Amino acid sequence: MRFIILLASLLNLALASTSQKPLLGSQNEYGHSIASATENANLIFNAVHSSMRQWGSSIQHNGMSFFPAYIPEGTLLYHGNRIPEIPIGPEWIAFEIPHAEMFAVGWRVKRPQPPGDGDDDKVEVSDEGYVDLRKISPNQLWTLDEPEYEYIPGYLHIYKANRPLKVLYLDGMAAGNSDRGTMDSQDILLLNFTGGVWDERGRAAELCNLAKDIGVEGFVRMECGFELIKCDFSEGLTFISHKQRPNIQKSEGFNTMFLFEFVREIGSRYFGIGAGRVLLDYSSMVSAFFYPANLSNPHPDPGQSKLPRLVKSDDNVLKQMRSDVRDAVIDSNSNVGIDWQGVADMIVKRFASRLQFLATDMDQEKLLSEVNMLVNTFIDYGTHDEQDPVEVCALHYLQPVSPHTEQDHLIQAAFKTVTHKICDTLNEVRKIVLQKREDENAVDVDDASLEVQLIRELNSWLDWPDWTTCGVCAVDEVCFIAVFPYGTEEDHYLPQCRNSEQLFKRLRSRDNYWMPRQR
Ligand SMILES: *[C@@H]1O[C@H](CO)[C@@H](O)[C@H](O)[C@H]1NC(C)=O
Ligand SMILES: *[C@@H]1O[C@H](CO)[C@@H](O)[C@H](O)[C@H]1NC(C)=O
Repeated sequence: MRFIILLASLLNLALASTSQKPLLGSQNEYGHSIASATENANLIFNAVHSSMRQWGSSIQHNGMSFFPAYIPEGTLLYHGNRIPEIPIGPEWIAFEIPHAEMFAVGWRVKRPQPPGDGDDDKVEVSDEGYVDLRKISPNQLWTLDEPEYEYIPGYLHIYKANRPLKVLYLDGMAAGNSDRGTMDSQDILLLNFTGGVWDERGRAAELCNLAKDIGVEGFVRMECGFELIKCDFSEGLTFISHKQRPNIQKSEGFNTMFLFEFVREIGSRYFGIGAGRVLLDYSSMVSAFFYPANLSNPHPDPGQSKLPRLVKSDDNVLKQMRSDVRDAVIDSNSNVGIDWQGVADMIVKRFASRLQFLATDMDQEKLLSEVNMLVNTFIDYGTHDEQDPVEVCALHYLQPVSPHTEQDHLIQAAFKTVTHKICDTLNEVRKIVLQKREDENAVDVDDASLEVQLIRELNSWLDWPDWTTCGVCAVDEVCFIAVFPYGTEEDHYLPQCRNSEQLFKRLRSRDNYWMPRQR
């Protein structure tokens, strides 16, 4: 039996490498192109680097990319519900325990029509009088423990994947029900959804219709933690347990420390959810950054208008992307392609802190030594070979991988643009420093402002999320960045270490970053 399976998979491999059919749809003026991938090179690089990582995906919260993905057999998944019964689905299932605990509660309406100052404060309730936690806004969340609602302890369900689950991962903060653009890739591109950002159940129903069509079992998205919309609970999951939770209105169940420790849990996933619990097929990735889409953001704030949106994109491009996502997902198999995130990591680890260091004012001696350390590997000091050291340097980091799919070629073009820009800038800086040394008449030998400016321009273009972390926080503090449904505007732009009291205030602030308001 095992032999037959082995034989079959070898045969598959052989077939896969001989029949290279293009994964993406036919070329036309709306289609993907190397030109678009080159133009959006830094954005593609960062999307790959931040995929399935809470930190970068919270900064670049408007995800523009789709990755076919696999949840390996044996992965534990957590579901919070007000009832102990196994749901049918679609329902939400979390990768971390505290995230599921948030939903392991029931809120029942005591009075038929809860008072509120406007539509924003009206909480939607089910026919049985329960508040649907998937349909309330961050600000409504905090009104629930006021006396109009009755609290009922719910259940934490634990499930285990009993075989690999094929899913589609939507990047950025795609589970964040915000009008800042977090839902564009689903609502505008995938679904052409008209329910509005808050209709999470309506969206899940439409996503699961699509799931049947493209052969996935659900969608991985991120809010305050990663989660899976599982379309059918009777498929691929083994039920492990459902335990009733303590009463959160008593101190044992809930206090400021619950939220503090919850954020600590989120923080432990800032740079990856660990244990290979979701494997992405980068070689089948489809990104709006591959296309001639208008990604401009009409928001007037400069901080926001930097984030891409799909609201201004041409319908024809959107339809082409939708059809390409569909084809890419159908063609993807669990024999996932190139580990492009690994390639990105090798580049970021080599350059990130050094580029930051170079952007500070330093003397010419240090500057030259630092730059040389990064680029002289690619210069032959012995002979005068004809190879362009910038080109050699740029290609070096891409040597380990050989592109197969069309997407590999698009990602490679983007990555090469990134490495080329890094190597070119460093080489330029090196030349300037060396020239100054040779020029006996140079006046300001110690003035490195031009060199520093070049490095700063490069860094601002690269915009690596690793440069905005909090550093190491004290043990009674956690590094907090706004993650749906929590955080203020300041938490988005200036993440910092916070203790439990500071954090509790920020989490309950009415000045919520994700909430719609006049903008
Ligand atoms: C994108 O859309 C904006 C707003 O409609 C428009 O001002 C801009 O010129 C468009 N950009 C391109 C490249 O078409
Ligand atoms: C979305 O739906 C509207 C109304 O049915 C239609 O006019 C439009 O072409 C659709 N857009 C896309 C991108 O499918």
